[in-house]
Amino acid sequence: MDAILIKGSTEPLRGTVRISGAKNAALPILCATLLSDGASRLRNVPKLRDIDTTAALLRFLGRNVVVDAPEITVDPGSCSRPEAPYELVKQMRASVLVLGPLVARYGRAKVSLPGGCAIGARPIDQHLKGLEAMGCTIHLDRGYVFAEGPDGGGRLRGAEVVFDMPTVTGTENIMMAAALARGRSTIVNCAREPEIEELGRILNKMGAVVDGAGTDVIHIEGASELAPFDHAIIPDRIEAGTYMVAAAMIEGSDVLIEGAELHDLEALVAKLRMANVNVTSEGRNVRVGRTGPLKPVNITTGPHPGFPTDMQAQLMVLMCLARGESVISETIFENRFMHVPELQRMGADIVLRGHVAVVNGVDELYGASVMATDLRASASLVVAGIAAREETEVRRVYHIDRGYERIEEKFKGMGVNIERVVGAHS
Ligand code: EPZ
Repeated sequence: MDAILIKGSTEPLRGTVRISGAKNAALPILCATLLSDGASRLRNVPKLRDIDTTAALLRFLGRNVVVDAPEITVDPGSCSRPEAPYELVKQMRASVLVLGPLVARYGRAKVSLPGGCAIGARPIDQHLKGLEAMGCTIHLDRGYVFAEGPDGGGRLRGAEVVFDMPTVTGTENIMMAAALARGRSTIVNCAREPEIEELGRILNKMGAVVDGAGTDVIHIEGASELAPFDHAIIPDRIEAGTYMVAAAMIEGSDVLIEGAELHDLEALVAKLRMANVNVTSEGRNVRVGRTGPLKPVNITTGPHPGFPTDMQAQLMVLMCLARGESVISETIFENRFMHVPELQRMGADIVLRGHVAVVNGVDELYGASVMATDLRASASLVVAGIAAREETEVRRVYHIDRGYERIEEKFKGMGVNIERVVGAHS
């Protein structure tokens, strides 16, 4: 397995980073191609393991998929088996996003339960509750979800679906199912992420009538059939936020982040500015730097537009160097502090109290060999290495490659001394 080596420095960072397309927009949109019998094209798609995994799943489902990053074309084939096997779903939980499209398009689906992952149990009860409201019969057997449309595999019926909590992929699954359902659906207590808005744009391009994507109530008029689409994916706000935090790690830095959309990152930007980080919009780019000491800030993660859980680890790393105490509360996932023991090994002063981490800033971090099992936590350890003394080795880089395209190349572009060691560990 590869490792990434970072030589820490006090030298200010300078340079530019170009943001790739959003992983968490591309994944549901790729699954939405199952709703149409035409050939769709996606542009500005990042080259990531999760994208390749989704392409493999679509091929298993009979689609002809050509991945030529940053473009992907998906041509219809014949879907003899609307199934998503455990071997593929276990690699990526987001594979559950084929469930809604398959049962809407083919009247039935067999999809492996995604199971938990490092950050939590990750149940899909809300996805299943929504499909049942649309007339689906659902039963679970031997780790699989078996879903069948009304009357033995007929067309789904538009319905009102009220989620118990905002769920990103739950909202996306039900939106895609509703796009082919008979009549009107209303989805209440939806997730409001920009990636949900993007999916709404796609479903409208395909011929459904989607209103309210990005708010907590979405209305969808289903169509009897949906057309293919050609679409360029929005930029990845979490990738952008990760590089914004990296640019703030060393005093005196000044980095231009190209293609970052500030309006999708208000909660993060507000906290960075409170921490004495300079964040200025320059057209479709963002300039980030720091001219003075970091100030501690408190954060509580929450559904969008709250502070994103996917940026919690990154902000914690920054607060490890702030002058004072920061309180970081994780409210979305039950086990999303796996980066904490690794940061403690780098000299960070962090005390965990259940879902709360109390961080007291230190003068400096020390390089170490570290690893994490969460995509965002792993990337945060690379960020920590930027300002740590000596060298930091981040292991299990395959986690990072799931969500960060060409990470070492992009960090080099902002002046970080970083390299990948291929096959560093068995
Ligand atoms: C999406 O995961 C993202 N993944 C995650 O990003 C992100 O961290 C998460 O949303 C929260 O923003 C993709 O978009 C592919 P949820 P998702 O359903 O949809 C509970 C990354 O790093 N819940 O919004 O799986 C759940 O346990 C990944 O790119 C239920 O109880 O998250 C959690 O506590 C990591 N029942 C909360 O809701 C359900 O049926 C929010 O989860 C569904 C969710």
